[in-house]
Amino acid sequence: MIHIAPSLLAADFANLEESVKRVTDAGATYLHLDVMDGLFVPNISFGAPVISALRKKSNLCFDVHLMIQDPIRYIDAFTKAGADIITFHLESCKDPRAVIREIRARDLKCGLAISPATPVEEILPYLSEIQMALVMTVVPGFGGQAFMPECLEKVRVIRRIAKRDKLKLDIEVDGGINEENVALTTAAGANIIVSGSTIFRSKRPKLTIANMLKAANANPFRG
Ligand code: DX5
Ligand code: ZN
Repeated sequence: MIHIAPSLLAADFANLEESVKRVTDAGATYLHLDVMDGLFVPNISFGAPVISALRKKSNLCFDVHLMIQDPIRYIDAFTKAGADIITFHLESCKDPRAVIREIRARDLKCGLAISPATPVEEILPYLSEIQMALVMTVVPGFGGQAFMPECLEKVRVIRRIAKRDKLKLDIEVDGGINEENVALTTAAGANIIVSGSTIFRSKRPKLTIANMLKAANANPFRG
């Protein structure tokens, strides 16, 4: 199943409740929440208290993308804040398996992310232990950057392996995705589509999401 996950990073931070309502009414099923610590990435966004406040206002699937160093320190806080999925970066810690264990012990879905510079081989040993692989299609840290099509080969490799090994694995893509390039991502094997500026800057977000879903569903993975 394909899901569109608007990234709150592109929302009006003075009107978060209204922003979430807007994308919910527009047909989003996931809400992508980018947590940045100014250390793993050179930007600071928001943390658990903001997510916790929004949790009281929304039933969307909260897809928390941690761009923080040593994420194991904060798994409990983001669980309590109301995350449904916690994704952390392979590059952000020494022992990814320990982080996966912490997330799974709380009965949440676990996502593992790789930045554009990380070879796909590095994520492969973990595919059977996670529920979602996040392939970044921009260098993490900022919204509004240009999509890097060369990252899609990693999506293809992961989807082929997931099929071969009969893994129930979501593949998320994140960064620079719009109505024009979304088809490339699903054809490569992605099924969770993050989109920040495209959706939040749209004057007609309902139409934007419908167009994205249409293009995505018309272009499934073909092997
Ligand atoms: C980048 C974030 C993305 C970002 C996507 O570090 O992980 O989720 O908000 O925004 P757009 O769609 O504008 O590239
Ligand atoms: Zn993100």
